[in-house]
Amino acid sequence: MTNSSKSLSRRNFLRAGGVVTIAVIGGLAWRAEDRGVFSAHTGTAYEPWQTWNAAEHAGTPLALVAAGILAANPHDTQPWLFKVSDQSIEIHASLARHLGSFDPFLREMHMGLGCAIENMVLAAAPNGYATRVELVPGNLRDITSREGFAHAATISLTPAPDAARDPLYEQIPHRHTNRTPYDKTRSLPDTFEAAMMATVADTADVRLFLYREGVTFEAFGQAVIEATREIGRDRQMVLDSDAWVRDSPDQIASEASGLTLDSVGLTPEFAAFVKMLPKLPAEQAHATWETQTEDSHVATAALFGFVAVRDRLDRAQSLAAGRVWQRMHLAATAAGIDMHPLNQPVETADRELELGNPLLSDARLNAITGDESWQPTFSFRAGYATRPAYPSPRRAVERVTQV
Ligand SMILES: Cc1cc2nc3c(=O)[nH]c(=O)nc-3n(C[C@H](O)[C@H](O)[C@H](O)COP(=O)(O)O)c2cc1C
Repeated sequence: MTNSSKSLSRRNFLRAGGVVTIAVIGGLAWRAEDRGVFSAHTGTAYEPWQTWNAAEHAGTPLALVAAGILAANPHDTQPWLFKVSDQSIEIHASLARHLGSFDPFLREMHMGLGCAIENMVLAAAPNGYATRVELVPGNLRDITSREGFAHAATISLTPAPDAARDPLYEQIPHRHTNRTPYDKTRSLPDTFEAAMMATVADTADVRLFLYREGVTFEAFGQAVIEATREIGRDRQMVLDSDAWVRDSPDQIASEASGLTLDSVGLTPEFAAFVKMLPKLPAEQAHATWETQTEDSHVATAALFGFVAVRDRLDRAQSLAAGRVWQRMHLAATAAGIDMHPLNQPVETADRELELGNPLLSDARLNAITGDESWQPTFSFRAGYATRPAYPSPRRAVERVTQV
């Protein structure tokens, strides 16, 4: 081969290589764009966090709904429908938006409704209303349907232009579940427990158990880890949980609900990497969750706690417990403290009851609280997060309201 033909072929090779490189980069960029690597937690599904107190609904009952939809709720299922008139807002459980074997009695669903009720009550005074809340009584076992709607509560509204606003109202758009590692070197202020206890002060059927050290703290962490492993061995629970995982920006935009890769506490770099892959099979996703639970959620918690009720399957008590959690999370947000529900030990208790298995999870919970007269219905951790949490998708007011 002559020198000139050698350099020609090299040129051709380099040119071909360049084309391939451009194609690969182009393909990766397209895939990254398509998978939302550059558009994390943006788009229409996130707009309710910006428009929650916009002039459009101000001074009307819909302003309360706009605050309600930003509440914490299980797996971001948003299991609600609001029937709105000038005098009242009825809150209905949207029964089809359930978590199956993960929440077999709709207990978490009702806690989520309670969280929404609390936000709505907080939004009442700033919009010129006084409220009276009536919770529908009954036992969760009596709700056997998994379609249609079930009336859960009514908020009656009366005009009250001078009603005093609760400072927690301002925190509504800033509260997010933070699943990142917490900073183990920072302990919570000594006043934290008292501040949390104040949120249950006038709720007779709800009690808090809080632990920041010692044998019970360790046992709590162990209970969360064991329950997460038990869920991992229960294929139905894994599948039912996975059904609410949203994989693509298109799905997030259309469903505007469910858990996203941006919300589960991964570093932004790792989240971007995972987005480039095909959706993880449910079992693999749960295995990752198990590792995160053990190495990050439990290992870095500054405090663990239970919200407990007298009867875990009582409807009104579940709603009341949700109201308490929402207040607690807003109060913690105001203090710059992060929170994260870790409700696996209660989810396995429900599952054992559903299957008629020995109630080992209840025994595990009772061993921690030492008081069987209170039933934990919600477990969580608190601390100072090492990374911020971002908003999760929400269905807009119009989509969840009947006027
Ligand atoms: C009753 C209830 C149970 C929950 N359980 C868990 C849980 O076990 N693990 C978790 O990471 N988040 C849990 N969450 C948090 C929700 O997933 C979260 O509120 C929802 O995805 C909306 O996100 P946001 O709180 O950031 O607005 C729970 C929330 C509620 C109200």
